[in-house]
Amino acid sequence: STNSPYADLILHWYDHHQRILPWRAKKGEAPNPYHVLLSEIMLQQTQVATVIPYFNRFIQDFPTICDLAKASLDHVMSLWTGLGYYSRARNLHQCAQQIVDQGGNIPTTINELKKLSGIGDYTAAAIYSIGFNQPAVPVDGNVERITARLFAIKESLPAIKPKLASLAKMLNQGQAAQERPGDFAQGLFDIGATICKPKNPLCLLCPLSAVCKACLDNIANDLPKRSPK
Ligand code: ADE
Repeated sequence: STNSPYADLILHWYDHHQRILPWRAKKGEAPNPYHVLLSEIMLQQTQVATVIPYFNRFIQDFPTICDLAKASLDHVMSLWTGLGYYSRARNLHQCAQQIVDQGGNIPTTINELKKLSGIGDYTAAAIYSIGFNQPAVPVDGNVERITARLFAIKESLPAIKPKLASLAKMLNQGQAAQERPGDFAQGLFDIGATICKPKNPLCLLCPLSAVCKACLDNIANDLPKRSPK
């Protein structure tokens, strides 16, 4: 069988260094797919530290997806004020109503998830992997950057997005990642945010340094390249 050294390294690191975030399941507990859906919509264009208080206020006012579906749009928009990209809030409200109309359970397949308002490839893969612990790799900017560095991809974004996405989707081969797809995805996010940062990555602390081509070649800080606008 195929095996990937990446998954074992990422999961071992995640077990010791994961961030404590309000939408994450506590160790040994099942994730709450509604919390995952809400957080992933908020995190699409917004930093983790900004999202935390908004997420907590939403969960307080709308503890379940049914509460969110039956809330007024005004209530939803007022809780979103300050987060920006307001179409996300309108789509989220509509998405909650679609889910409740379909019986109240968040869909458990990528295809069904992608039919919901505001849910595209990234968010569907995030809910599938983190919310339901099914094997998918949600590819965001963090995951693109880690992948470009791991394989020292020297061509420029955005042209290499498809190439980075297909490389990223090979990282979760191997038993460990297949058993813990949610932790694997969140391990990538945490490594991207705290170690494999856009500027001045902390390669000395990185669990992937021994298998990262950019680190070994001392060019991590220069990747990924971006074509001038
Ligand atoms: N960025 C997007 N989704 C995230 C998550 N679940 N945890 C941390 N950072 C994220």
